Amino acid sequence: MNAVHDFARFKADGRKISIITAYDAWSARIVARSTVDAILVGDSAAMVMHGHPTTLGATVELMALHTRAVATGADGKFLIADLPFLSFRKGIPAAMEAVGALVTSGAQAVKLEGVEGHEDVIRHIIGSGVPVMGHVGLTPQSVHRFGGFRVQGRSENGAAVLLREAHALEDLGCFSIVLECVPADLAARITSELAVPTIGIGAGAGTDGQILVLHDLLGLGSTGGPRFVRRYFDGEHVLTAALNAYDGDVKDIRFPAPEESYS
Ligand code: KIV
Repeated sequence: MNAVHDFARFKADGRKISIITAYDAWSARIVARSTVDAILVGDSAAMVMHGHPTTLGATVELMALHTRAVATGADGKFLIADLPFLSFRKGIPAAMEAVGALVTSGAQAVKLEGVEGHEDVIRHIIGSGVPVMGHVGLTPQSVHRFGGFRVQGRSENGAAVLLREAHALEDLGCFSIVLECVPADLAARITSELAVPTIGIGAGAGTDGQILVLHDLLGLGSTGGPRFVRRYFDGEHVLTAALNAYDGDVKDIRFPAPEESYS
């Protein structure tokens, strides 16, 4: 995938879409060599890379810095960057500054959370030629309104709100919509009603694609992560073992060997 049109084509063909987060050049290089379709520079960078408890600490400057790093390693892989907390809620000029910072850093599209109250901003960004990915369900920038990281859309009213929001994002022209922590049957219903692809995270198998945080997938989170995470690698143990092997070699004078030294 290297263009926004591929998202619509893949949905029309019934081909699933895979997206993974990346925050730096070295991991972007590894993702670029994989068959994963696209990269998101998520505002989860605030939590994964900077140790914050929520995504609220991400700023436009921080996201631009990570986006620039990822773009150097992404080798043409389709690159989406998150508009961070409040950056698109301070009016159109401020939102466009933020979009400009991310796009000039290498993003081909931006993602933003929610829809109500910033419809005009979404319209303006798309009208300016920048593709927008929507994000509804558990939108982590609203964590304090939700009272924690909780599944959304379980009540009849909650489900109706999510359906309405997803349709509104499609009507505004979003090329794709992330559904986060949504009951699987509701996510499948939204997916079947929309023409644009849905990308799920904790939303079951009925969406048009999936997204995960790279460090969760690689087993590099300090905990197992939420229920929806599948660990494909035991990164924490493998990396600790490598560091311990290095430490042992230094202390037992097995490192460096003559061939690792200069004469
Ligand atoms: O910030 C992020 O990583 C995200 C995805 C997990 C959807 O928004």
